Amino acid sequence: MLEIKFGILGQYFHCPQKGDFEYAAQALVMVDQQGVIAAVLHPQDEQYAYNIESLRASSKLVELTSAQYLMPGMVDLHVHAPQFPQAGKGLDLPLYDWLQDYTFPLEAKFADLDFAKQVYPRLVNSLLANGTTSAVYFATIHAESSLELARECLKQGQRAFVGKVNMDEPTQCPPFYIESSTEQALQQTEQFIQQVIALDGNQQQLVSPVITPRFVPSCTVEMLQGLGQLTQQYQCHVQTHCSESDWARDYSQQHYGKTDVALYHDFGLMTRKTILAHSIFLTPDDCEVIKHTGASIAHCPLSNMYFANAAMQTREILDNDLHCGLGSDIAGAPIPSIFHTCLDAVSHSRVREDGTSTYIAAAERGEAGKRISFIEAYWLATVGGGIAIDAKVGLFQTGYEFDALIIDTDIDDSNIYIVDEMDSAKDKLEKIICLNNRQNIRKVWVKGQQVINK
Ligand code: GUN
Ligand code: FE
Repeated sequence: MLEIKFGILGQYFHCPQKGDFEYAAQALVMVDQQGVIAAVLHPQDEQYAYNIESLRASSKLVELTSAQYLMPGMVDLHVHAPQFPQAGKGLDLPLYDWLQDYTFPLEAKFADLDFAKQVYPRLVNSLLANGTTSAVYFATIHAESSLELARECLKQGQRAFVGKVNMDEPTQCPPFYIESSTEQALQQTEQFIQQVIALDGNQQQLVSPVITPRFVPSCTVEMLQGLGQLTQQYQCHVQTHCSESDWARDYSQQHYGKTDVALYHDFGLMTRKTILAHSIFLTPDDCEVIKHTGASIAHCPLSNMYFANAAMQTREILDNDLHCGLGSDIAGAPIPSIFHTCLDAVSHSRVREDGTSTYIAAAERGEAGKRISFIEAYWLATVGGGIAIDAKVGLFQTGYEFDALIIDTDIDDSNIYIVDEMDSAKDKLEKIICLNNRQNIRKVWVKGQQVINK
């Protein structure tokens, strides 16, 4: 038998198929020394009883109670790490003013490495405690504190994708928060990529660098071109904002006569490892480019309700098999939980389906058939996110990384109330998605390493 690090015995949920889920009542998930799932056994399997006994005998078996559920770790495809101090305030303005008045002044403070050292540990811990085992981060324009974020993720054991933000367009960036030159920013980005890859303790590449043009308005053509070259050279991940609001969409049309996707494509920034936050105003051509490049969309439903000016085409994206997962978009939305984001994604699609104006007849008020289900939202949060980051996470299957959490519904301060005689497996999963909070998340593992234990 392969060297097994530990096994977990109990019930689990996951979503091997989009739109459907699987419930296993008493599975044994065995994890090897590399943090990869070596086997998933069920009571009918031949080796099941033998493995339970031998793991138990060597004190390597975690046994769940009937109120505990093993679930895949959550993937957050879009987090602005420096905006954590702003989470929950200042959401009264439209996107452009919000950036200028609140966000850029806050991000500018990360020139001070000590400030980064105060903020980043709190954020990474909050995300892990809420079950986010993989996170895709925007940091700031500052190379040193961006590297500090990468170090912090590594220290706390989170699978992370970290980007030094690039913004050099003087008409859009305030003088106190802009690169000193395009050339220097590109050099710093290249050095940042190399430094993250070579970080002490990052031999397994738990933390990866991400090329990060903030969005079209904040970047010059030279910047987009240079970042595109680095993307081709290093084959690393890319993240940016894409057609997020009327204003952002119109900016690209007015300045370039193109959509964001077309522009990013021109500059070599659309790859299998590209993550496009928001992507509200997509044209059919944009969808075609996203599909054939294999790039992914980070759907940020609550933030969209504040900034997007329109609803996301989540139903169409799912039906068209575009790669897509969920993002919290802290602090464009305040809540550091992808479980909560699942609920937001469902609500967002339901408001779209029904429409809003009471002065319009019901049949014409909304867009029929555009809802997504809770199970689809949960698929986006786990499997969809895993596809977007190009990692084998989100499922309990042999060969997948063991990124997982345990939900305990039997704690004093639980909002989840499960009644075994009344609730089907689907009811239970939906209750967990809707009502779970961080107190219910008792244990979290990333790559087989336990990172939360309470
Ligand atoms: N577009 C450019 N920067 C940002 C940001 O920080 N948050 C959001 N939501 N949109 C952006
Ligand atoms: Fe964002």
